[in-house]
Amino acid sequence: MGSEERFRLDGRNAIVTGSGSGIGQAIAIRLAGAGANVTCADINEERANETKGIIDAEGGSASIAVVDVTKKDDVTKLVNGVRDLAIMCNNAGIMTDSSIVDLDEADLDRIFAVNFKGVFYGAQAAARVMVARGSGVIINTSSGAVAVPAPNIGAYAMAKAAVSQMTKTLAIEIAPSGVRVNAIAPGFVDTRITARHYTEDDGSINDEKRNAIRSHMSTMAPLRIMGEADDMAYAVLYLASDAAKFVTGQTIHPNGGVAMNW
Ligand SMILES: NC(=O)c1ccc[n+]([C@@H]2O[C@H](COP(=O)([O-])OP(=O)(O)OC[C@H]3O[C@@H](n4cnc5c(N)ncnc54)[C@H](O)[C@@H]3O)[C@@H](O)[C@H]2O)c1
Repeated sequence: MGSEERFRLDGRNAIVTGSGSGIGQAIAIRLAGAGANVTCADINEERANETKGIIDAEGGSASIAVVDVTKKDDVTKLVNGVRDLAIMCNNAGIMTDSSIVDLDEADLDRIFAVNFKGVFYGAQAAARVMVARGSGVIINTSSGAVAVPAPNIGAYAMAKAAVSQMTKTLAIEIAPSGVRVNAIAPGFVDTRITARHYTEDDGSINDEKRNAIRSHMSTMAPLRIMGEADDMAYAVLYLASDAAKFVTGQTIHPNGGVAMNW
C-alpha cells in the first residue's frame, strides 16, 4: 500500500459538527477531499450549505444537517441517521469572555452545553453505533486553552479540558472494540470565534486591530507563523485515517509550538 493510500477515506461516512465555518468547514472539506461522504452539520443552515457547496464544487460528496448540538435527541438522531458512520467529528464550539470571578451562571451553562455536552452527546451516540459495528473513529475539538491558561476564557477552557478528559476515558473504555477516540487542541486560528477581538460594536471589522492580533499570535508561536484552519483539518485527516490506527486517547496540539506536552 502506498503511503498516500493510508490517508484515503473513500466511501467512509463522516459527520462534522460546526462545519459551517472556520475549522469545522476546513475539516469537512479535507475529509471529503480524501473520499469521505461528509454530513456538514451546523446550527446555521446557510453556513452548512456554503460548506456543502465548496465540497460539491471540488467533486466531493456532502449533505447537510441542521442540528443544535445542545439537543441530545437531535444529535442522536443525526448520528443514527448516517448509515455505517465511520468518522464523527464533534467540533462545534462557542466562546464567552469573562473572568471566573464575574462569570454568570447562564454563560457557564451555555458554554458547557455547547462545548462539552454537545461533544459528549455526539461522542456517546457515535460510540454506541461504532462499538456495535466494531470500527470507527471519533475526533473531538478541544483547545490550546487547556494547555495555556489565559484570563477571561475560563469557562471555555474548563469545558475544553472536560473534552480532553472525556476523550481519554471513552478511548480506554471502547478501545477493545476497535473504535478510536482522539482530540485536536488547536492553537489560535483566525475564524468567526476570534473575530470578536477586532469587531467593532457596529459589526464592522477593524483591520488594524485584526492585523495587530495576527502579528501578535504569530510572534508568540515558536514557529513564528499563524495557524490556519487547514492545519487543524490535516491533523483530523491523520486521526481519521488508517495512518493513525495505533493512536487513541490522544489530544494532538497543532499550535506552532506554543505549548509542548509529553
Ligand atoms: N479558532 C481558534 O482559534 C480555536 C482555537 C482552539 C479551539 N477552537 C475550537 O474549534 C472549534 C471550531 O471553532 P472555529 O474557530 O472554527 O469557530 P467558528 O465560529 O468559525 O465555527 C463554529 C461553528 O459552530 C457552529 N455552532 C455553534 N454553536 C452550535 C450548536 N449549538 N450546534 C451546532 N453548531 C454550532 C457555528 O454556527 C459555526 O459554524 C470550536 O470548538 C472552537 O472552540 C478554535
